[in-house]
Amino acid sequence: MHADAALAAQIMQRIDALAAVSDEPGRLTRSYGSPAMRRANELVAGWMREAGMTVCTDAIGNLIGSYASANATAKSLLLGSHMDTVRDAGRFDGPLGVLTAIACVQKFHETGRRLPFAVEVIAFADEEGVRFHSTYLGSRSLVGTLGEAELQRVDLGGVTLSEAIRSFGGDPTCLKSCRRDPAKLLGYVEVHIEQGPVLQQKNLPVGVVSAIAGQTRIEAAFHGRAAHAGTTPMALREDALVAASRFIRDAEVIARRHPGLVVTAGQLEVRPGASNVVPGFVKLSLDVRHEDDAVRNEACELLAVTARFDAAHRRTELGWEIIQATRAVACCPKLTSLLREAAASHAADGEPMPSGAGHDAAALAAITPVGMLFVRCKDGISHHPGESVEEADVRVAISAMGRFLELLAARPA
Ligand code: HGY
Ligand code: MN
Ligand code: MN
Repeated sequence: MHADAALAAQIMQRIDALAAVSDEPGRLTRSYGSPAMRRANELVAGWMREAGMTVCTDAIGNLIGSYASANATAKSLLLGSHMDTVRDAGRFDGPLGVLTAIACVQKFHETGRRLPFAVEVIAFADEEGVRFHSTYLGSRSLVGTLGEAELQRVDLGGVTLSEAIRSFGGDPTCLKSCRRDPAKLLGYVEVHIEQGPVLQQKNLPVGVVSAIAGQTRIEAAFHGRAAHAGTTPMALREDALVAASRFIRDAEVIARRHPGLVVTAGQLEVRPGASNVVPGFVKLSLDVRHEDDAVRNEACELLAVTARFDAAHRRTELGWEIIQATRAVACCPKLTSLLREAAASHAADGEPMPSGAGHDAAALAAITPVGMLFVRCKDGISHHPGESVEEADVRVAISAMGRFLELLAARPA
């Protein structure tokens, strides 16, 4: 069996092994600092060592496998992706990138070869932001943009990020030690499922990414007044859920009016949450994305005005907090052209394509050139247990990434 085919089969087995490591019975959910994340890191650390890497964990809990260069002072190429998942997730979003990176290093290790640059495979501890709603905690630690205020964000159980880091074995007072010196980096390249239908439509196993859409994460709160469902006339209510519902409908209208804009209210908290009580408080999450930052920012302003109007229309008060905004990011032309050349040597060539999904590469672009290789996923399904990838396409990704490393080694400057 060809070496890449064997590595692809191994990746598929490892994907299945990780899919069984979950915080919730019967479905895949692995969030920052959880017992499942700890178990997953133990598995991946073992696979990194088998691939000839030394392994460490940084102060926030990113797992880092290092494959040294023949030249001790050489720069590092970072590979990898994230190990956390959304709720009831698919098994490829994140781990496929980590495991493909490990397989690429394993190929060099098994032939005793070293590259003119070091390779580090990073399994980021949090990209989805499910537990604390602020995303890229792992990759932003390498960039150094994780602020003190964020450390005080609390999860649904009232645990702060700072406490979660400590109980995960990290040290919230040492996050500066995670920061990377851009002068010592060659770049960051991430393999990730496309999470869209384009490669399948074009019948391509892999595709190179041109840019990553920007995103804004917002928390909107509607403060009304809880009241008796039976004795409070409709005209006298300050119903937070009705106000929020009006806004969610209006937000969808705004998104549909702007080509390329996507707006999602994914989380909803209703208090007190009893069937015979008029809801006095609602908090909802809003995820706003567009490949043009100006359009996204204008949309966010319009959404804020609309939310205020809808809140007042039901005599409630609005709370509006921008949790995080990540600019749209263009991938590095040099890395992208090398990835394209490498992919074309193993599959039909396709035009570089934009990513509507966010990725750790969007965070790391602040300190180093980034490139991404997408892998076809069935019907573009993602953030869903139906997420699936063909082993043959994983093999193409391994071969393309192996070729990419050879091309980069030949043209490092
Ligand atoms: O939400 C995203 O785009 C990514 O899956 N974190
Ligand atoms: Mn995701
Ligand atoms: Mn992802």
